Amino acid sequence: MFKHIITRTPCPAMIEGLSEAGLGKPDYDKAMDQHNDYIRALQTCGVDITILPPANDYPDSVFVEDPALCTPHCAVITRPGAESRRNEAELIAPVLQRFYNRVERIVEPGTLDAGDVMMVGSHYYIGKSARTNEEGARQLIAILDKYGMTGSIVVLETVLHLKTGLAYLENGNLLAAGEFVTKPEFQQYNIIEVPVDESYAANCIWVNGKVILPAGYPSTRDKIAGLGYDVIEVDTSEYLKVDGGVSCMSLRF
Ligand code: GLY
Repeated sequence: MFKHIITRTPCPAMIEGLSEAGLGKPDYDKAMDQHNDYIRALQTCGVDITILPPANDYPDSVFVEDPALCTPHCAVITRPGAESRRNEAELIAPVLQRFYNRVERIVEPGTLDAGDVMMVGSHYYIGKSARTNEEGARQLIAILDKYGMTGSIVVLETVLHLKTGLAYLENGNLLAAGEFVTKPEFQQYNIIEVPVDESYAANCIWVNGKVILPAGYPSTRDKIAGLGYDVIEVDTSEYLKVDGGVSCMSLRF
């Protein structure tokens, strides 16, 4: 069960966030409304929520998931792979020190976005991607090992982050889209396949028995609800435009 959630209010500069979506720029006011709805959904999950102030020097800073990994035993401040996001690590570091005595770091030449890291119990799958390099993944595995946890590397082929296409919903249930559906390392799980035309819905989160899912993906919603989860839909259309989603917008621990 998660006790804590950290989010950050989007800054006006979020409309200039990194994007390969080709869907145009986000509408900032709409993004604010959607962020408020996201917070309201989290408020139903029995967690305490820390809402950090907007950081206009960092257009992508609403995506707090990438500069930090919060495990049950330590926090890890990452070294984000995109230059424009690198200093988000320093921005989040003092916040993590409020919650953790043990704070570790990914250091140069390693790069790692924690959007590339998926927790399954005490094991962490780490995507080797355009943002996370092998050195960053190896450093994280060494940190996890120090605290009695394990990690393994998954090589990504097409998507931005590992959790762009995967979400672990606990109890052996793994939501998977695209390249992840057939990867051998995930065949041990009950794979819930996200249809190609709903692939964005694979970026969702389990929070204390509920699943928060982007709105507008009915087939995926029905599959998840069919497994007995309480599904909460939130509109994240403005975040999709800057390659972000439900998972990227919070740290959960
Ligand atoms: N715009 C989110 C990212 O590229 O990291």
